[in-house]
Amino acid sequence: MNLSKKFNFDTKREMSLNFMILVIMVSWFWSIPTTTCALAAKQEENHKLRFDKNGEFKILQVADMHYANGKNTLCLNVLPSQNASCTDLNTTAFIHRMILAEKPNLIVFTGDNIYGHDSSDSAKSMDAAFAPAIESNIPWVAVLGNHDQEGSLSREGVMKYIVGLKNSLSKVNPPEVHIIDGFGNNNLEIGGVQGTVFENKSVLNLYFLDSGDYSKVPTIPGYDWIKPSQQLWFERTSANLRNAYIKGPAPQKEAAPGLAYFHIPLPEYASLDSSNMTGVKMETYSGDGISSASVNSGFFTTLVGAGDVKAVFVGHDHLNDFCGKLMDIQLCYAGGFGYHAYGKAGWSRRARVVVASLEKTDKGSWGAVKSIKSWKRLDDQHLTGIDGEVLWSKSTPGSSGKKQIGGN
Ligand SMILES: *[C@@H]1O[C@H](CO)[C@@H](O)[C@H](O)[C@H]1NC(C)=O
Ligand SMILES: *[C@@H]1O[C@H](CO)[C@@H](O)[C@H](O)[C@H]1NC(C)=O
Ligand SMILES: *[C@@H]1O[C@H](CO)[C@@H](O)[C@H](O)[C@H]1NC(C)=O
Ligand SMILES: *[C@@H]1O[C@H](CO)[C@@H](O)[C@H](O)[C@H]1NC(C)=O
Repeated sequence: MNLSKKFNFDTKREMSLNFMILVIMVSWFWSIPTTTCALAAKQEENHKLRFDKNGEFKILQVADMHYANGKNTLCLNVLPSQNASCTDLNTTAFIHRMILAEKPNLIVFTGDNIYGHDSSDSAKSMDAAFAPAIESNIPWVAVLGNHDQEGSLSREGVMKYIVGLKNSLSKVNPPEVHIIDGFGNNNLEIGGVQGTVFENKSVLNLYFLDSGDYSKVPTIPGYDWIKPSQQLWFERTSANLRNAYIKGPAPQKEAAPGLAYFHIPLPEYASLDSSNMTGVKMETYSGDGISSASVNSGFFTTLVGAGDVKAVFVGHDHLNDFCGKLMDIQLCYAGGFGYHAYGKAGWSRRARVVVASLEKTDKGSWGAVKSIKSWKRLDDQHLTGIDGEVLWSKSTPGSSGKKQIGGN
């Protein structure tokens, strides 16, 4: 984020009308026939990711690295005693430590990966920013923030570059749609444990969306939003995944749980306060401490309607690191990660970890996802873990629906 003003326009009615028109238009552009070949290739690619033999899949979220020129780029908002020796290389060191400590199955970078404005070469900045992920050989995905395109590459250029980097699972856009707003919209299917009846099913679905940068509509100031074309793609993808999941082998009653990752928070994040969140909301530049778009494009409603997404993960507001539940969807921040991003001196940079765990079947094999837990780690001497919590757990017939407290 970088806007000092917050504007409040109530244009919800116009937005919903626009939404209807766009839905109709976008339907026209949707490619109806998908070749068997493309489907098979997609399945093969998607099944590269699966739960491990311990029945777990772990995701490390890195928000707002704001990487620029490595050792020549100084840190912002660190203690005076840390000021002299702190550069982008501290961001690099933090990712290395997080990867070693958590050994995630996937790393997700949720935008403002580079701070284009201060970068002398966007490609070089990305090489350095993603180097720890690439070196670790762990698959990774990145979405775009509002600062990634401010350097020598456009948003499309940045995403194309990310797609070409080693072990990147990002796509410029989903191959099955002809027209969609933004770059890097994509989904990943996480397969069940190999050798189990769930091995060919996606038991956890990840959605990545481009929440844009700044509004292009002259009468609407402020940040961008997730467009109808993207929401339509999400709805169709979610419905297709649900259909596949409830069919055999091992037919299920409900959709597999989903997680959504993007950069700019939804306006609904503002409905949470300290009484119903885990973590903190410390941003102060706007009234409600949430810098979302000044209009509501309805993506939260779309998520509630689809029903599979249990948690949303964003960055953008570096001093917010909470999760809080609204209508059975956890709205989460990771908290600022990068040292060349504004922060708060004495308040450690941090990262969020999410782990999904499978249930044991009657036959002692691994089944569907049982719970999704999360915690954060601080970039202090011991990488202190904080705010462990259960974000979601599968409701079992006859249970009260109460969630256990646990986590890290
Ligand atoms: C930190 O160092 C930079 C560059 O030397 C300087 O511009 C900045 O004012 C310093 N900040 C503090 C808090 O000492
Ligand atoms: C940045 O890294 C240097 C070199 O390892 C270290 O001395 C310094 O304490 C780090 N600064 C912060 C804020 O972590
Ligand atoms: C999963 O797909 C592979 C390859 O098509 C097949 O050999 C295997 O039997 C399938 N597993 C299940 C549980 O259906
Ligand atoms: C959180 O609590 C506040 C009252 O402190 C309430 O106004 C708000 O609606 C609650 N939000 C949710 C999502 O439960």
